[in-house]
Amino acid sequence: MDNNKQNPAAASGFKFENPDAAGKIYRRILTGDRPTGPLHLGHYCGSLKNRVALQDKYDTFILIADIQALTTNFDHPELLKQNIFQVALDYLAVGITPEKSTIIIQSMIPEIAELTIFFSMFISINALKHNPTIKTEAKERGYKELNYGFLGYPVSQTADITIFKADLVPVGIDQLPHIELSRKIVRRFNELYGSTLIEPEALLSEFPKLIGLDGNLKMSKSYGNAIFLSDDFDTVKSKIRTALTDKSRIHPSDPGHPDICTIFSYHKTFSNIDLTKNTENDCINGSIGCVQCKNNLFESIKNILIPMNEKRQYYKERASEIWDILLTGTNKAKKIAEETLREVKNDMKINYF
Ligand code: TRP
Repeated sequence: MDNNKQNPAAASGFKFENPDAAGKIYRRILTGDRPTGPLHLGHYCGSLKNRVALQDKYDTFILIADIQALTTNFDHPELLKQNIFQVALDYLAVGITPEKSTIIIQSMIPEIAELTIFFSMFISINALKHNPTIKTEAKERGYKELNYGFLGYPVSQTADITIFKADLVPVGIDQLPHIELSRKIVRRFNELYGSTLIEPEALLSEFPKLIGLDGNLKMSKSYGNAIFLSDDFDTVKSKIRTALTDKSRIHPSDPGHPDICTIFSYHKTFSNIDLTKNTENDCINGSIGCVQCKNNLFESIKNILIPMNEKRQYYKERASEIWDILLTGTNKAKKIAEETLREVKNDMKINYF
């Protein structure tokens, strides 16, 4: 039987078709991470968990953006290899599977860099300089001057997305200005060269950002306030022990304020409804102390980490399998990237021979 007749998505070369309420069809997502260190619970809640669900519905491409990591970590390229491995291991541990998701190493697809150069011809420096995420990041990192590559990474990110013809990009709110820029670049490109690059849309994560152990608004490796997915249980337990709680509570019987407590915000994310509700009441009534409350939270987080640890253990003992997965994903992606670049060059009339 000809499957293509039955499945229009397959006929168009895509595995899935997901029409929205208005009938618009979405097929492929692309998202990614900079390999700058191990992934943490903030990544899990904000994106990884969602990707595991999305891979059943979309052709899922996940980019380990090692070149983008160089925009800020150019002084330590020698760390990329181990960081790529670490990120891939984190992906596999949370349940991203190579059967459903294509995991790609960015630097092994030079077509992305080539497309970035074409895009860079008609995007103004001012547009890049006014990007609010770039501004915040530069400030956080204490950059007085912006490097060309750093300022331009949203352009290269546009190439990441468009070279694979992704139509949806699952991201957190901080990435929205980049997607806006991507849409602008694609429109301009298509207008200039009569091309048909796909204008991507953001698929905004519904999950609120996880705050840091120190109460900082963002859990982040660089703030030293993160629980890593690869932390062992003793480490997780002692990190939870140090987390900021309601400072006005001295004795376990003092009435607490869960709404300002880091630990309670984690309960809301990681504990079941009953435990969360009881924790709230018991804290307000002063009938549970912070130590007990933290122990309960540890159990909830542990339950989430246990299945991840099993998969982590499996792959940890099979490092070559991880590199194989990365090579297979990258090779598959490279074919698509080559084809897109061929089309782009045709449209630009720079296919000389
Ligand atoms: N900028 C993203 C981050 O810092 C990583 C990334 C690189 C990305 N290329 C991408 C995200 C393409 C979405 C689409 O997390």
